[in-house]
Amino acid sequence: MQERNEPEWLAELPLTGGPVVRFRHVRPDDEPLITDAIRTASRETLLHRFFSPIRSVSPSMLRQMLAIDRAKETCIVGVTKEQGAARMVCGARYVKLPAGEAAEFAITVHDDFQRRGLGKFLLKLLAGLAVAEGIQRFEADVMNSNQKMLNLFRKATSSRAGWHRTEDIHHVVLELSTLTNQESGLIP
Ligand SMILES: CC(C)(COP(=O)(O)OP(=O)(O)OC[C@H]1O[C@@H](n2cnc3c(N)ncnc32)[C@H](O)[C@@H]1OP(=O)(O)O)[C@@H](O)C(=O)NCCC(=O)NCCS
Repeated sequence: MQERNEPEWLAELPLTGGPVVRFRHVRPDDEPLITDAIRTASRETLLHRFFSPIRSVSPSMLRQMLAIDRAKETCIVGVTKEQGAARMVCGARYVKLPAGEAAEFAITVHDDFQRRGLGKFLLKLLAGLAVAEGIQRFEADVMNSNQKMLNLFRKATSSRAGWHRTEDIHHVVLELSTLTNQESGLIP
């Protein structure tokens, strides 16, 4: 839910050749946009994001995705306008871990918009918001088959401290101080 005095748009990124993607916190009325994004995503994207090739989400899971307790978690989405209609093209979320200095983190970019810089941009944008809340690092479990995400993380940091690999996943740790020196993309 948008909070009082909070500007709706956090940032925007004009993609080369269009369109412009605008970023804001997720809202409960985003349900149809998220449902559509999941319905039209590839099996691989859904598998890598949810660790299961879901095609739709149950009403209870949707409610959980949209009812954000901002004291504990942050979820931002990227939206375009196509022929006057809004489309959700990407999203990213972090959930604070109990100690409060770290958060679990995930990004999703719709297949139609991948490899155009949105993943990199979302990581910086979310890192800027997390640092402002006192969070020092992001942690994520990434499937070993998910080379796209692993490449993104490898490029984002030179440190592999805390990274470990099991049979199925990489546990990845990103120290945010190493990321946020760059332009965050936040609209002042
Ligand atoms: C992983 C993901 C978020 C990347 O988003 P994206 O917008 O395509 O990423 P970007 O365009 O910003 O690319 C950033 C870097 O990621 C890596 N990358 C992205 N797509 C890649 C691909 N197809 N092959 C190899 N590396 C790739 C590259 O290192 C790239 O940097 P480069 O373009 O300078 O080489 C996107 O593919 C996705 O949503 N995948 C499905 C969901 C998922 O896996 N989420 C992660 C859960 S933790």
